[in-house]
Amino acid sequence: MLRTSRTLLLALAGLLLLSACGRNMYDQPKAETYEASPFFADGASSRPLPEGTISRDRGGVDPVYFTGLDATGMVSELPVELTTELLLRGQERYDIYCSACHNYNGDGGGMIVQKGFPQPASFHDQRLLDSPVGYFYNAITNGFGRMYSYASRIPVEDRWAIAGYVKALQLSQNATLDDVPAEVLESLRAAQGEVQ
Ligand code: HEC
Repeated sequence: MLRTSRTLLLALAGLLLLSACGRNMYDQPKAETYEASPFFADGASSRPLPEGTISRDRGGVDPVYFTGLDATGMVSELPVELTTELLLRGQERYDIYCSACHNYNGDGGGMIVQKGFPQPASFHDQRLLDSPVGYFYNAITNGFGRMYSYASRIPVEDRWAIAGYVKALQLSQNATLDDVPAEVLESLRAAQGEVQ
């Protein structure tokens, strides 16, 4: 009998100890998000950023490069060098990330749209032909209406590559022979002659 009550007592003590421990872990001595704090003069536990802090991923280093915006709005020039490699990279990324809806040629009739997803406007509509390259960068970065943002999936440099490629895609559908450099035109004519 004595033995049982001693065991019971021990168990009870153990329980008390445990519950006290649980409470401490639940309510830890730290400031939670937006919690008031008597420690600072302004009564807030959240502190302002030290002066001169630069955000690496929110446009701090080069705002135009990261946001696609300058003082006048969406940039109309690529903030990176336009090279063949950039466009090829853009084409590859576009085909992976965008063509499923926007189609390989940009007319908005991709496979997902054929299966019932809302159809985006064609990149060859006059409104989008007139849109600056920053407009496409912004749509990828922030999403557009029912299209979600690709910011977490496509790094900044690839977003510019894709935006540049979309501009090239637009050009490709509206180019005339006058747009083709003379030496390329020659080889095109030669190739055409071979086909005929
Ligand atoms: C899952 C389908 C889907 C994918 C993938 C997709 N988009 Fe879209 N996109 C849409 C739809 C739908 C709209 C129109 C949304 C609306 O109007 O609500 C749109 C709108 C846009 C617009 C704005 C067009 C306008 O009318 O002004 C741009 C630019 C754009 N997308 C570019 C891209 C690029 C670049 C990619 C690849 C990185 C991409 N989208 C991937 C479905 C998609």
